[in-house]
Amino acid sequence: MCGIVGYVGIQSASETLLEGLRHLEYRGYDSAGIATVWEGELHCVRAKGKLNNLREKLERIEMPARIGIGHTRWATHGKPEECNAHPHRDQTNRVAVVQNGIIENYRELKQELQAKGYTFVSETDTEVIPHLITNLLDQMQSANELVDYTSPLTEAVRRTVNRLEGAFAIAVICKEYPDELVVARQQAPLVIGLAGGEYFCASDVPAILPYTNTVVKLENGEMATLTPLGVAISSFAGDRIIKYPHVLKGNRMTADKQGFRHYMLKEIHEQPDVVRDCLSTYLSSQSKGSPIALGLPDDLFTDLQQVQILACGTSWHASLVGKYLIEQLASLPTTVHYASEYRYAPSPLLPQTLMIGVTQSGETADTLAALEMEHKRRTQRSTEFRPRLLGITNRPESTLAQLVPHLIVTPAGIEMGVAATKTFTAQLMAFYILALDLAARRQTLTPERMEEIVVGLRHIPTQIEQVLYQQSTVIEELSHRFQETQDFIFLGRGINFPIALEGALKLKEISYIHAEGYPAGEMKHGPIALLDAKVPVLTIATPGAVYDKVLSNAQEAKARDAQLIGVAPQDEQTAELFDVLLPIPKVEEILSPILTLLPLQMLAYHIAATRGLDVDQPRNLAKSVTVE
Ligand code: G6P
Repeated sequence: MCGIVGYVGIQSASETLLEGLRHLEYRGYDSAGIATVWEGELHCVRAKGKLNNLREKLERIEMPARIGIGHTRWATHGKPEECNAHPHRDQTNRVAVVQNGIIENYRELKQELQAKGYTFVSETDTEVIPHLITNLLDQMQSANELVDYTSPLTEAVRRTVNRLEGAFAIAVICKEYPDELVVARQQAPLVIGLAGGEYFCASDVPAILPYTNTVVKLENGEMATLTPLGVAISSFAGDRIIKYPHVLKGNRMTADKQGFRHYMLKEIHEQPDVVRDCLSTYLSSQSKGSPIALGLPDDLFTDLQQVQILACGTSWHASLVGKYLIEQLASLPTTVHYASEYRYAPSPLLPQTLMIGVTQSGETADTLAALEMEHKRRTQRSTEFRPRLLGITNRPESTLAQLVPHLIVTPAGIEMGVAATKTFTAQLMAFYILALDLAARRQTLTPERMEEIVVGLRHIPTQIEQVLYQQSTVIEELSHRFQETQDFIFLGRGINFPIALEGALKLKEISYIHAEGYPAGEMKHGPIALLDAKVPVLTIATPGAVYDKVLSNAQEAKARDAQLIGVAPQDEQTAELFDVLLPIPKVEEILSPILTLLPLQMLAYHIAATRGLDVDQPRNLAKSVTVE
């Protein structure tokens, strides 16, 4: 995914664009660039690599313009080189375009434009857009075509977007129309910010929030023209659309590190409050009646026979915990699919199924496409197959929110670190409460057992604080030991197996150390061959059905000289077994994942920080992937 911004108003455009891009860098950081219009000329500056490279270049250039567009890139078409960085321009340096998404039919368009004499200088799909716009402007001008209801630039962009296939959001400026910024959206997010005499556009609200919290969201098939005098919205068909702005409510939407060295560390430390917010959002404060306050309608659950969950990455790991909870607490068969796999090999349809799409960003292309496909498949069948779609997301304004009729919003606030931490925890909380809701409706738990679990959940925030407080320094010191480690194994079982997967993913993502998460009981069927004194084995063991078995699995690793790290409650057995014990409070196994997760997040963080790596912006990754 990439980030786009645009500005028209009374301040310096380049500074406003840079500030906006700073808040969008989590979306990609392979290159960045801005274009402005000043004194009838288009000025474009781009740089390979992170935003700082662009900032340094801009310091040497005077750019007093009051209109401009900017982009931060996660490479899809073409290497992360300056020539492929946005904005892209036509060959006469008349039109500049930034794009987030993919233009699927760019090859045909490119051939058509090349045949007309247009030359291409990048490997990107985006470059067709400025050429198309300039070609249409030329055609309109030479035919002396009167566009009495709109500006020629808006009309040229409108005709252009009607020729594009794929998912995209674009922002366009043109040197002949120095007060017009034209934007369009088709299945990629785009929000417009309104402040007196200043208008903004961006892929995500954090880029706009420093200036205004009054916004208008564009929907698919909508475009807008922003001038210093206002915003005019229309459809791709050219019809005027009337929309009213809304005011964003403030929450932890801060892009400030608040004294922490990295966003990731700050976000790890925000988890106690995130869990508190989840509890107050999802649980009723009434002493009588059901404790659940998810507000989901009864007909979503009537005669339910199974749950199917679709997700990618960390959200997929949270979904595996969700499966455990739904099956064990509500006795409902549940499957979890990688959305990218499901799209091309969907399960045969079973009736009375609740489909849950889990995506923190609400923008992951595979998850959205798999849900859409499922909706279509089910709509074509009889009523018992009717689609029952539920989304779990951290972004209530996302594309997912428009796609599904029911949502559980995780109140984690914006997450800037590319590696998910607090949003994962919030997803787990959503699954706890959903599983309890299902259990209550299906009467699979007694009210006393429900109450016991709810009380256990209410203790989690202080227990998280305890773990963070006790272990931060210990883990920081421990991380030095693993600076040069090449392979790591994470073992867990039952509800903690997905936590082992998540711990391994965190380490891979930000420290570039190879790591594998494995169900502890499966180690003997393969990974045990990898073990020697150089391989640390981190084992999650919490008292419950398989506690002794997991400790035996750790013994087997110890017998092969592996360095043993334990994430377990402190007792005689664990203190003796593990070379290093990272103790967690003694809680019921079913409540343990949010606590066992913490040492794994901190270990990954500190190893990466000790290795001097860019924790918040690891190489090759983006916060969410809006392409297939
Ligand atoms: C990317 C991110 C991961 C994230 C995954 C799914 O790969 O780097 O951290 O888990 O996308 O994102 P989603 O927004 O759908 O949860």
